[in-house]
Amino acid sequence: MKIKAIIPAAGYGTRMLPFAKSVPKEMLPLVNKPVIQYVVEEALEAGIEEILIVLSEGKEAIKEHFSSNKKLEKLFADRSLPPELAALKKISNTAKIEYIYQSQPRGLGDAVKIAADFAGDSPVAILLGDTVMETPVTKMLVDKYLENGNCSSIALEKVPPEKISRYGIAGGTEIGENCWKLDALVEKPSIADAPGDLAVAARYLLNPGIFRELSESKPGLNGEIQLTDAIGRLLKKETVFGYKISGRRFDAGTPAGFIMTNVELGLQNPEYAEILKEKLRKILDRTEKTTNQTN
Ligand code: G1P
Repeated sequence: MKIKAIIPAAGYGTRMLPFAKSVPKEMLPLVNKPVIQYVVEEALEAGIEEILIVLSEGKEAIKEHFSSNKKLEKLFADRSLPPELAALKKISNTAKIEYIYQSQPRGLGDAVKIAADFAGDSPVAILLGDTVMETPVTKMLVDKYLENGNCSSIALEKVPPEKISRYGIAGGTEIGENCWKLDALVEKPSIADAPGDLAVAARYLLNPGIFRELSESKPGLNGEIQLTDAIGRLLKKETVFGYKISGRRFDAGTPAGFIMTNVELGLQNPEYAEILKEKLRKILDRTEKTTNQTN
């Protein structure tokens, strides 16, 4: 059985305007790598090599990032590639990346639905293209899928009440450490309508039955086809588990998330950690002094 990966990256990136007007938000750099490269690396780390990236018009920079660049190849023709470029070339050589275009912004469910032919009879890992995980979440979902008798699984994280209406929220029975058998899934509910406090965390591993549910899906919240609604129906027909992620989820698709992720990843990078710490301390000192003066 071969698991394939779908990376939805077709959204307009309205939360990252004006930057995302001409450059895909998935191409934002986290330290020196675009977000989408981390996502492709996470799929490869899970042993998944067949990857479909769902694009929309104007997001060709993503395609270009994973294809060969004649100018660069010429530049490094008689010397070895710098390590970062060599690593990218290895990814492009290992992963079999295909692309498909979503013609209209009809929602995440629609972006996944158009990948039905690519998936065929295979289970699919879905990795949202603007989110980076601190731990190898897709590998964890693949391992659990093989352990739990090939049941669909989604990544979850607990969220405080004030954030419930920003996420797909799951409800279910806790059946083991960090593991729930799900019985409800609602996209961005109010606190009153939420079936719990576990949010869908940007990674899924779903059986092909999801495409049947998506093909029958009607527009949901915001008039969009919601993947959450389709999984909500799938779990009435087959077992779907939710697993709490162990590390942090970095959502680089908002200005605050983008800035914080860069600080976090910069602090984890041996090349920049020390200088960044020093600069951050100075900036904080200065800001505190200014605040004290104005108070
Ligand atoms: C999407 C999903 C939502 C999920 C969230 C984070 O929402 O629709 O269910 O909780 O990603 O993974 P978006 O952030 O695109 O509005």
